[in-house]
Amino acid sequence: MCGIVGAVAERNVEAILLEGLRRLEYRGYDSAGMAVVSPQGALQRRRAVGKVAALAECLGDAPLPGRCGIAHTRWATHGRPSETNAHPHQSGEGLAVVHNGIIENHEALRRELVADGYRFDSETDTEVVAHLVARERGRHADLLAAVRHALARLEGAYALAVVSADDPGTIVGARKGSPLVVGVGIGEAFLGSDPLALLQVTDRFVYLEEGDVVRLSAGGRVEVFDAAGAAVKREVQTFEHGDGAASKGDYRHFMLKEIHEQPAVIAAALEGRLGERAALVESFGPEAEALFSRVRQVHIVACGTSYHAGMVARYWLERFAGVPVQVEVASEYRYRRVVVPEDTLFVTLSQSGETADTLAALRFARERGYLASLAICNVPGSSLVRESDLCLMTQAGPEIGVASTKAFTTQLTALMLLTLALGRVRDLAEETQAELVAALRGLPRLVERVLALDPQIEALSTAFAEKHHALFLGRGAHFPIALEGALKLKEISYIHAEAYPAGELKHGPLALVDSEMPVISVAPNDELLDKLKSNLQEVRARGGELFVFADERVGIEEAEGIRVLHLPHVHEALAPILYTLPLQLLSYHVAVLKGTDVDQPRNLAKSVTVE
Ligand code: F6R
Repeated sequence: MCGIVGAVAERNVEAILLEGLRRLEYRGYDSAGMAVVSPQGALQRRRAVGKVAALAECLGDAPLPGRCGIAHTRWATHGRPSETNAHPHQSGEGLAVVHNGIIENHEALRRELVADGYRFDSETDTEVVAHLVARERGRHADLLAAVRHALARLEGAYALAVVSADDPGTIVGARKGSPLVVGVGIGEAFLGSDPLALLQVTDRFVYLEEGDVVRLSAGGRVEVFDAAGAAVKREVQTFEHGDGAASKGDYRHFMLKEIHEQPAVIAAALEGRLGERAALVESFGPEAEALFSRVRQVHIVACGTSYHAGMVARYWLERFAGVPVQVEVASEYRYRRVVVPEDTLFVTLSQSGETADTLAALRFARERGYLASLAICNVPGSSLVRESDLCLMTQAGPEIGVASTKAFTTQLTALMLLTLALGRVRDLAEETQAELVAALRGLPRLVERVLALDPQIEALSTAFAEKHHALFLGRGAHFPIALEGALKLKEISYIHAEAYPAGELKHGPLALVDSEMPVISVAPNDELLDKLKSNLQEVRARGGELFVFADERVGIEEAEGIRVLHLPHVHEALAPILYTLPLQLLSYHVAVLKGTDVDQPRNLAKSVTVE
């Protein structure tokens, strides 16, 4: 989704803004732009369709000197990707705005502003903000007051940053529904959609809260005002993961780097959360023990890959903690007349903590009488974390590749911790708890062993590069893993893929199976193995080519039309985590063979901050 960078510094800001945009590329975008107030007090702008490199080229030809500026990567919502639709949007020659989010009442505002004599150059909803602020600037003494009055007219979601030639050395930012952080420098101040954009200049951040307005001015001055307009102090937090998190290191793609980080981040997700023979319930917060002992139901809500993690958790929570679980995609849940049984725990899962639908679902749930809300999330300080009663951070570190990998496996790890914590307060047998704790401790080593199979997985990938479709099969808790495998293949290789619970095959999808349809199956050593083997026979009998990821102990061997990759034996409850890895690697290699943009697949955004 759109990315924002802003800087008021003691030096020219063009390079800072450009580097910030490069660091936001992972969010997904289709055009980029920058506006800087020159030393002579004139506002100048450059915009380009396509990658940030195209904007850099444009700036190479016509640089933007000046110590105060804003920049943006745009992910089109209103109006196609084009230079005129790219941000910053200006009102006249003197005022520029960048915006992330959607202004829902933009049509009415546009009519009003046109009637007032304002000329619109773009099809975007954002341009109304530029004209509204400009109109208010004419009525008020400074940019801050003008922005505040303009905000009062906006409906919808926004993070925005405004500069004006009449207020040199000042940026006014605001957030409502879309994230915005302030980077605190020495004698300098910055704005960014996320901290990663600014790690080249600072590791100290203020996470703005809903309704906050901020003014950055010369000398690194930062003034924050809450929704009521009162000056407030917000805590300055230090970013813990270091700047290396935002670079690919020796890897060809962020996605590959993030896949290979999984042993370390799964270990980090477990760190300090396991006792000798049980999970530490207090990892979920001091009130968790009292709350968890009251839980009688769990509702899990998330989107995309995070939703798949929730689907796996349903199997775990019902089996080990004995609580009924509902799992739903946030975009459906938020518009349903949900019936909430007494003592239901509401759980959201999100890598970014800013996904618009998941956040809206949480806000909707807060009005519905849940026992409490728990966020399992990867981004500290994100809206989801701040607005939930309890949280458990997944500790995966920044995930840059659009296709989620390490965030998913750490979510699953966190969900197994939740299963153990709920199980503990609900009398799960001590032996079972101890067994699962031991298995969790051994998981990072097993993940390393699966990653060592990469060359064999890469070899398998050649069979997919020319295919147009693929079918993924799994049973039980591995059905969501099949869904996740299909999603990964779709999003980065653009091969159409579907996933089915293997038992559903003969109820329809079997009609699709022929020699052109590769069928991928995960076959861990669980109670459904024999049934899965029969389903695989059904595929073979129709000439389908099978690719099976199987436990080394299950006795599925290669034969004509069946390629088998053996995975190390793992406690069957944790197999969904381990079996995710070969599917991630398979998709990655297929995408590389197809030459797609692995880290920024077309049409997709990393953090989906609009509905
Ligand atoms: C797919 C993917 C998306 C996200 C979804 C939710 O690889 O990354 O499906 O899982 O957009 O995002 P978060 O987890 O940030 O709420």
